Amino acid sequence: MNAMQKRFLKPLVFALCLLPAVILAWQLYAGQLGANPIDEVADASGEWTLRFLLITLMVTPLKRLFGWHWAVRIRRMLGLFAFFYASLHLATYLWLDQFFDWGEIWLDILDRPFITVGMLAFVLLLPLVVTSTNTMMRRLGRNWKHLHRLAYVVPLLGVLHFWWLVKADVLEPLVYGAVLVVLLGFRIRRRTSANVAARERCVS
Ligand code: HEM
Repeated sequence: MNAMQKRFLKPLVFALCLLPAVILAWQLYAGQLGANPIDEVADASGEWTLRFLLITLMVTPLKRLFGWHWAVRIRRMLGLFAFFYASLHLATYLWLDQFFDWGEIWLDILDRPFITVGMLAFVLLLPLVVTSTNTMMRRLGRNWKHLHRLAYVVPLLGVLHFWWLVKADVLEPLVYGAVLVVLLGFRIRRRTSANVAARERCVS
């Protein structure tokens, strides 16, 4: 990647990541979201959260399989966009769905398992966001890597949240779940081969 491409990569990816939110805002403004626009915004922001979580996890496999080292430069941005869409999703629920009725919200979290799991996923995203800076990465050292395994737990909870919500038509959550399983499989395989290589080095 030359200097010119490096210069434009981040602004370009930033604009692309923001595009779904801009389109959604435009559709809302233009009254194109049908009879229940709040549901549409909640659904779209939820799905974009899940997509960005999965896209972020694709960076390492893409780097290893195709030598796309440039993808590492945008990984943090992708993860932060997952958080941006999750915040939009949560805000839609708190504001437009529940009108900030904290008592109702608390009951909902306790009573409806799909809300409990969604909330847990959001809460587990927070430490990832807080520790996403270079300073935090340096300060936490090896613990940073351990903590960032949560990046697999959050989409897992996201898929479960979606699955619980749809009840009958599970095709969509199933597709997201399958992508997550492949990405998890890649990571487990890589860890296993690294351990085998380390053991062989010890023996020889
Ligand atoms: C990382 C966290 C989260 C992810 C990945 C996520 C993902 C999703 C997805 C994929 C959907 C279904 C979209 C569709 O039907 O096409 C959804 C729906 C929903 N989520 Fe979440 N969610 C998260 C957190 C939360 C939180 C924290 C809440 C509220 C406490 C929440 C409340 C809802 C509600 C109420 C719906 C149903 C929307 C509707 O159809 O009216 N989610 N979410």
